[in-house]
Amino acid sequence: MADLQWHAERLDWDSLPGQPMDLFGRWHGAAAETEPWHGAAMQLACATKDGMPSARTVLMRGFGEDGIQFFTNYESRKGQIFDENPVFAAVFWWPSQVRQVRMEGRVARLSRAASDAYFAGRPRGSQLGAWSSPQSQTIGDLASLRQRYAAIEKAFSGKPVACPPFWGGYLLEPLRVEFWQGGQDRLHDRALYEKDGACWTLTRLAP
Ligand SMILES: Cc1cc2nc3c(=O)[nH]c(=O)nc-3n(C[C@H](O)[C@H](O)[C@H](O)COP(=O)(O)O)c2cc1C
Repeated sequence: MADLQWHAERLDWDSLPGQPMDLFGRWHGAAAETEPWHGAAMQLACATKDGMPSARTVLMRGFGEDGIQFFTNYESRKGQIFDENPVFAAVFWWPSQVRQVRMEGRVARLSRAASDAYFAGRPRGSQLGAWSSPQSQTIGDLASLRQRYAAIEKAFSGKPVACPPFWGGYLLEPLRVEFWQGGQDRLHDRALYEKDGACWTLTRLAP
């Protein structure tokens, strides 16, 4: 295997912002230029009440000071697990920047209005797909899914496709955010933000 590139830029500690989502915005801005899917793909993990972990890839669809938004089927496996234990861990890995961002925190559903607004802007095929797929449930074959799609397409013919009540967004509200910048000789740099009440503390971790 060819030598891996383990370093790019250094973390400039003098310019780190007080809010982790500000640094996330800077890093994501760079990743959006160089990564497939505009750097929006993240590995999102949840855990059942019994502590069984469960992870999958989803796409970030927005972020702000309060956290990260993504959209899904509320009745999916992840949706059911979030209902019983609304906590998460997420990882973004941006190889072109030799950067990783990890988050842990709480999960909450977005408002119905916010989910409706996002859904309204999706391509019609994706809207019909959301109605058609009982995400995470056992199905027979893809042909039966196509039939469901065709029936739903007919039902909405000539009309806007409303957002299904079982579909919408979540806010991933981080309480801990770690920025990892690959470094020379495996001396990577790790900046950890932890929420303490309304304030964030910043510390440096050994790689
Ligand atoms: C690149 C990529 C992006 C994805 N984005 C989403 C997404 O934004 N929302 C979603 O529900 N599933 C998304 N998926 C599918 C999920 O990984 C997963 O298969 C699905 O959500 C069902 O997961 P669950 O059974 O754990 O609920 C994506 C998969 C990939 C590979």
